Amino acid sequence: MKFLKRPHLLAIAFLCFTASSCNKKQEAGIPVGQFASLTGGQATFGQSTDKGVQLALEEINASGGVLGQPLRMITKDNQSKPGETSTLVRELITRDKVVALIGEVASGRSLEAAPIAQRSGIPMISPASTNEKVTETGDHIFRVCFIDPFQGTVCAKFASKLGAKKAAIITDVSKDYSLGLAKSFKQEFTKVGGIITGEQSYSGGDKDFSAQLTAIKSANPEVVFLPAYYTEAPLIIRQARQLGITVPFIGGDGWDSSELVGVGGAAVEGCYFSNHFSNQSTDPQVVAFVEAYRKKYNADPDAMVALGYDALRLLADAMKRAGTTDPAKVNAAITATKEFPGVTGKITLDEHRNPTKPAVILQVKNGKFAYVETIAP
Ligand code: PHE
Repeated sequence: MKFLKRPHLLAIAFLCFTASSCNKKQEAGIPVGQFASLTGGQATFGQSTDKGVQLALEEINASGGVLGQPLRMITKDNQSKPGETSTLVRELITRDKVVALIGEVASGRSLEAAPIAQRSGIPMISPASTNEKVTETGDHIFRVCFIDPFQGTVCAKFASKLGAKKAAIITDVSKDYSLGLAKSFKQEFTKVGGIITGEQSYSGGDKDFSAQLTAIKSANPEVVFLPAYYTEAPLIIRQARQLGITVPFIGGDGWDSSELVGVGGAAVEGCYFSNHFSNQSTDPQVVAFVEAYRKKYNADPDAMVALGYDALRLLADAMKRAGTTDPAKVNAAITATKEFPGVTGKITLDEHRNPTKPAVILQVKNGKFAYVETIAP
């Protein structure tokens, strides 16, 4: 009786009921989490990966989804900030109940997320983190890209192919990525008979590199290896050119951003970097992917787009093979991945949950990234 005297309560009860059924509707689908640097210092990394993930999502759901259900991506932005990723990944697992995770590009942020995913029993696939340690975290951590011991070797081989006997290295000591690449470059370059004439370092976010570059100049190298992100690489190369250092710089995948040329301009012309993918490939599968991407975004895909695309498609394939979305079974199915046809190459995961894939060398030519060659593992 009391209840009827207050009819607005009925209205509220009704609204709550409709709202919750609406929410249920919105929440249809298999929840998959993504954590990415959509904003902040390394925004092009996260934005690119997300575009690849969204393209894959569209295609997967358009062809009937997975196990009769659509996939539902829940994407969180860590703003490129250290410390944010761990909070977001905990939220994705405990609040959003994701059955798997896609992330990150930067090795440092994947290393932040990996122990949480591992402890929670949720499989995590990094699209683009190349540092060796990422998948060493445990048996729930996978990647769809090659690793830095290989990438550093590729760069060293290429430097020596250019005829260089003397190389200098400039390392970003704030990044696992840069430290790992510098180490493997040095090992391989000295193995093939080269010498390292100068080793300098900086910390991500630095703007003035004149002291390091003056030292490099007097060491007289024939190439400079610069395992930096695109946030510093073009600044360093510009300052090097101003100081009269004319030799080519060679970098790794961290250079892959339109901002390398946007900021570096003429200074970066002729420089080389290793990467996972070239959008100039004539492989029919890659051509179809590049066309689909152009249609959706009116731009050319970079490596992180391609790796994000491969990561979600590989996950969907594993769920289908598992026949369930149960994280433990999905984990086992990802572990068993063989010959998955990625646009970045065939993906077979080894016992360390890493694929063995070729790398490409790209050269900055007329402000674009021109394909030079493929280096097989
Ligand atoms: N490999 C880099 C890292 O591990 C990230 C990266 C991948 C950057 C691909 C650009 C392209 O930190």
